[in-house]
Amino acid sequence: MADEQRRARYLEALGIEQWVRRATPVAELAMATAVASPTAAVDGLDWPALRACVSDCQRCGLHKTRTQTVFGVGDSAAHWMVVGEAPGADEDRQGEPFVGAAGQLLNAMLAAIDLPRESVFIANILKCRPPDNRDPKPEEVAECLPYLHRQVSLVRPRIILAFGRVAAQNLLGTDTPLGKLRGSVHRFGALNTPVIVTYHPAYLLRTPSEKRKAWEDLKFARRIYSELTVEA
Ligand code: URA
Repeated sequence: MADEQRRARYLEALGIEQWVRRATPVAELAMATAVASPTAAVDGLDWPALRACVSDCQRCGLHKTRTQTVFGVGDSAAHWMVVGEAPGADEDRQGEPFVGAAGQLLNAMLAAIDLPRESVFIANILKCRPPDNRDPKPEEVAECLPYLHRQVSLVRPRIILAFGRVAAQNLLGTDTPLGKLRGSVHRFGALNTPVIVTYHPAYLLRTPSEKRKAWEDLKFARRIYSELTVEA
């Protein structure tokens, strides 16, 4: 009798159940690899695998304090993508980006350029809430940014609107102040997607006098989008 069979008999006689390793399904394999090596593995994920990967993510310390991850929401084939900073308390509770007071203003800003919230895809630089809404740490951004890159590759938006300094600087990999990033067309990621920068709605709630400038940015974004789609 082969050793393996003998062992099986002993274990059976002892009432010990044997665990047989089964073949690993592709999605599980993709997730396991993604957890082991951030950027490369996330690159190939489809929507369900990416969503699963984000919701299980423990790449930085924020998983210890989050209620849940905030993946992103909206039309997965949207022409417009909105990128904010990170979930706040309301978003952490509800699992959806921009649902608090800043979200109400964001919806109004989008509506002002004829974009219903449902027509865009909304995501953040970070998928987990930083405690006390502190700024994201560079290492947290480094771990999380591959998810956003993949979301952009899957949505393939014609244009990205970056709301606020943190979103703009991290998308563009720069520390140029927000005021200097406004009014130009920047580029993001492998697809060279055009990026327009404007103020964060939470900042505009605190500083309503800047709303006029944000309106200029939104009109600029609309114009760039129209020019791009005429060319396309
Ligand atoms: N602020 C952000 O930048 N993102 C959110 O999802 C909510 C508030």
